[in-house]
Amino acid sequence: MQVVSIDKIGEFKGQEVSIRGWVYNKRSSGKIKFLLLRDGTGIIQCVVVSSESGQEAFERFEKLTQESSLIVTGIVNEDKRAPSGHELLVKGIEVLHISHDYPITPKEHSVGYLLDRRHLWMRSQRQSAILRIRAEVIKAIRDFLDNEGFILADTPIFTPTSCEGTSTLFETKYYDRTAYLTQSGQLYNEATAMALGKVYCFGPAFRAEKSKTRRHLTEFWQVEPEAAFYDLDAMADVAERMIEYVVKKVLSKKGSELATLERDTAPLEKIKAPFPKITYAGALAILKKRDIELEYGSDFGGSDETALSEDFDNPVFVTSFPLQTKPFYMKSDPDNPELALCFDILAPEGYGEIVGGSQRVDDADVLRERIAEHNLPKEHFEWYLDLRRFGSVPHSGFGMGVERTVAWLCGIKHIREAIPFPRTIYRISP
Ligand code: 4AD
Ligand code: MG
Repeated sequence: MQVVSIDKIGEFKGQEVSIRGWVYNKRSSGKIKFLLLRDGTGIIQCVVVSSESGQEAFERFEKLTQESSLIVTGIVNEDKRAPSGHELLVKGIEVLHISHDYPITPKEHSVGYLLDRRHLWMRSQRQSAILRIRAEVIKAIRDFLDNEGFILADTPIFTPTSCEGTSTLFETKYYDRTAYLTQSGQLYNEATAMALGKVYCFGPAFRAEKSKTRRHLTEFWQVEPEAAFYDLDAMADVAERMIEYVVKKVLSKKGSELATLERDTAPLEKIKAPFPKITYAGALAILKKRDIELEYGSDFGGSDETALSEDFDNPVFVTSFPLQTKPFYMKSDPDNPELALCFDILAPEGYGEIVGGSQRVDDADVLRERIAEHNLPKEHFEWYLDLRRFGSVPHSGFGMGVERTVAWLCGIKHIREAIPFPRTIYRISP
C-alpha cells in the first residue's frame, strides 16, 4: 500500500493509500465514526463506516485514545469543507500503540502545566504551526544570505571570554580551566570575514539574563552576517532586505500555519524595505511626546520599544546610540565621537528589538584602549587585535534573533513558544 503524508493527500484523489500517524481526536455519530488523524504534516478526517471498513476496524476504532499511534488505510475523497480539502474513507486500521491518559486534553491548561509537558505540547496544532514557521524563517534567512554570496562559517560555542559584556556570561568548567558559553559569534565572524569576505554564522547564543521578560531566553538562536568593506549603511541595507525577504517567504509558504494561529496578516503584508530610520535622540523625543521620560544614555525597556514601534508600519531602525552604553567593539561616529555607528531594528506591533548591528572598530590602538576601558582580559583579545594589525578594513555586521522574529511573525505574545525547548531563567527542562 502506498504510504502518503497528509499535506500531499490531494495528489491521491480516488486512490487507496495509507497514512501513518496519531489520533488527534475522535467522535461517533450513530453508525458513522470520525477519526481526526495527525501525521506531523497536517490533520485529516477519517470516516469509519462498517460497510466499508469491515467489523474489525470498527472495533479497533472503539479502543483508540488520544495520541494512540496507528496506520489508517482508505480511499481519498474530496471534501471541500475539510481543512485539507479531503477526507479518508477508511478501509482498515492497524493499531501500533494505545496511549493511556494523555495529559493534554482539549480543555484549557495553564502555561506552566503545558511547559512542563513541552515534549507533548508541541504536538498541538498551534505549537506545531509555530515550529513549522520557525523552520521556514531559518530557511529563508539562509537562502537569502546564500543568494547574496555570504558564506556560512560556524563559530565556537566554548569561548574564553565575553563578547556582549561580562554580566550575562554562563560559566562552565573546561578541564582545569573556565570557559564561557558564547553570547555571539561576532568576534570570530570578523576573522572569517577577513578570510572569506562576506560570512555569516548561525547558531545558539547563551545569555544569563537577569530579567524575566517575554522577550528573553537564556538560550536563543542568532544569525549573524559580517562583511569586510561594508560600512554601517551597507549592512543596514542587507538587514532590511533580509527581513523583507523572510516576511514574504513566510506569507507565501506558511499561509495555512498563519491561519491556524489566527495571525492577522495585513500588517505583515505592509512590510517593505527601505525601513524608516530614527536616531537614539530622536527616539527619546518620541517617547517624551508619549509622556515616557527616559534619561539620556539609558537602554530602552520592553514597553519603550513597544511605544516606539507604534508610530511605524515597517520595522524601524534606531541609530546613533551613545557609545558609552554599547559594547567595546563598536566604532565611534567620526562626525560625533560620542555616538556609536550602530543600529537596532525594532519590529512592528510592539515586538521589540529583533536586530542589533554595528560598524566595528578597525584601528588597533583604539581597540586596545576600548578593551582596557571595558576591563576585558587583554590576553584573550590578542588574536582579535591581529585582525587590525594585518590588513585592517572597515567592516560591519549584525545579529538577528530567530525567536523574536518568529514570535513577531506568528503574532504570539511570548518567545518561549518560538523554540522547541525554551530555556529561561527558571526552566531547563524538559
Ligand atoms: O543586540 P545583540 O546583543 O547583538 C549582538 O549579539 C551582536 N554581537 C550581533 C552582531 O553584531 N553580530 O543581539 C542580537 C539579537 C537581538 O537583537 C535579539 O533579537 C537577539 O539577538 N537576542 C535575544 N533573543 C532572545 N533572548 C535573548 N536573551 C536575546 N538577546 C539578544
Ligand atoms: Mg541589542
